Amino acid sequence: MKIVKVLMIVMFAAVMGCSSGSDDSGPQVGGPTDDINPGGSDDDDPSTDDEIPVEDPFVYDATEDLKDVASFPIGNIVSANKLASTSTDNTTFKQVLNAEYNSITSEYQMKMNIMFTAPDTYDFSDGDAIVAYAKENGLRVHGHALIWHEAIPSWLNEFAGTDEEFEAQVEGFVKAAVAHFAEAEDDGGNPIVASWDVVNEYFDGAAVRNSLFTQRIGNDFIKKAFQWAREADPDVKLFYNDYNIAGQVDKRNAIIGMVNDFITNSIPIDGIGMQMHLNHDWPSSDLPLAIQAISDTGLLVHLSELDVKVNYGDDINSLTEERAGAQELQYQRAGYYYTTIVPAAQQFGITLWGFRDRDSWLYDNGSDWPLLYDNDFNTKVSHRGLVAGLNGENPE
Ligand code: XIL
Repeated sequence: MKIVKVLMIVMFAAVMGCSSGSDDSGPQVGGPTDDINPGGSDDDDPSTDDEIPVEDPFVYDATEDLKDVASFPIGNIVSANKLASTSTDNTTFKQVLNAEYNSITSEYQMKMNIMFTAPDTYDFSDGDAIVAYAKENGLRVHGHALIWHEAIPSWLNEFAGTDEEFEAQVEGFVKAAVAHFAEAEDDGGNPIVASWDVVNEYFDGAAVRNSLFTQRIGNDFIKKAFQWAREADPDVKLFYNDYNIAGQVDKRNAIIGMVNDFITNSIPIDGIGMQMHLNHDWPSSDLPLAIQAISDTGLLVHLSELDVKVNYGDDINSLTEERAGAQELQYQRAGYYYTTIVPAAQQFGITLWGFRDRDSWLYDNGSDWPLLYDNDFNTKVSHRGLVAGLNGENPE
């Protein structure tokens, strides 16, 4: 990943400089000159003509790709439509994806509301397209997410059958989805879909969340879900996924208590997904403590949805150098603590939740800049922070 933008601006400005005053014979260049004069002004003041373009302080010239720096998989999110698209933006998206990542997660198309279309009826087509892309490009797929209270198909929300019939529907779905995606293999016979988030966000703070699933199946729906998934595939890695595991100590302790109960009672579970939706200044000291505590369960640890908001308090109107620097540091901290605290055998990987800032679920009409690439896919200084952390450079 090289940033060519600044160089291109310099070259373009040079071309424009050569052609100035010779409108008939100069090279044909597109666009109004106003658009390509970042170092000067829009007027005709000759004193600004030779000014060197000011470099964008929010991006840098990356020389290392994330997946080459890390000793564990590095992932990001995709959708079937973006993978199929040949637009300029999506072509760049796929170039960045293939250069920097070796694992992918479906942003929304492998959730229940998309795949479970009617009673006993499933549509796995978007997921299949994602898996096919992964197979073609040598990527791992992390399945996300079988049961999440925010992704319930409307027909299931309104299901008029008995609680037993409701449970049978959920059981049928979990088993069908896991069994279906277990079929995809690479040429060496290894599964493409390595893992599933079986249940997402079971906890609301330190308490079990009141949801359709607790209401109709009971609080132990989560144990049943992990058992159903295991019955459908003896090998796929089964994860519990949640947010604020770092930053909210009572919630973390509740999750660790549940996981230990699973282990004691032989309920199948392989890993914990820490979503890692961070702010530039939060969490601070709790971040390494959380990664340590989750590692201490002995399970796989996945930083499953990493992003870093810089405008949580809505107090800035554009990205500032101070916030960009704080974000760079927070990305470095996440990468560093994961790399240095989690034992290698438990490092399932780090997954970023998006590419360009404008693609983020937290973009909020352009009022936050949570990710690693600007809107032209240039690597932001946040990317430099993550690279430094993955390289073991201590951020403190
Ligand atoms: C979000 C996606 O990014 C959005 O496109 C979708 O509309 C809603 O879900 N925690 C999760 C993810 O586990 O599935 C969420 O993804 C972000 C919060």
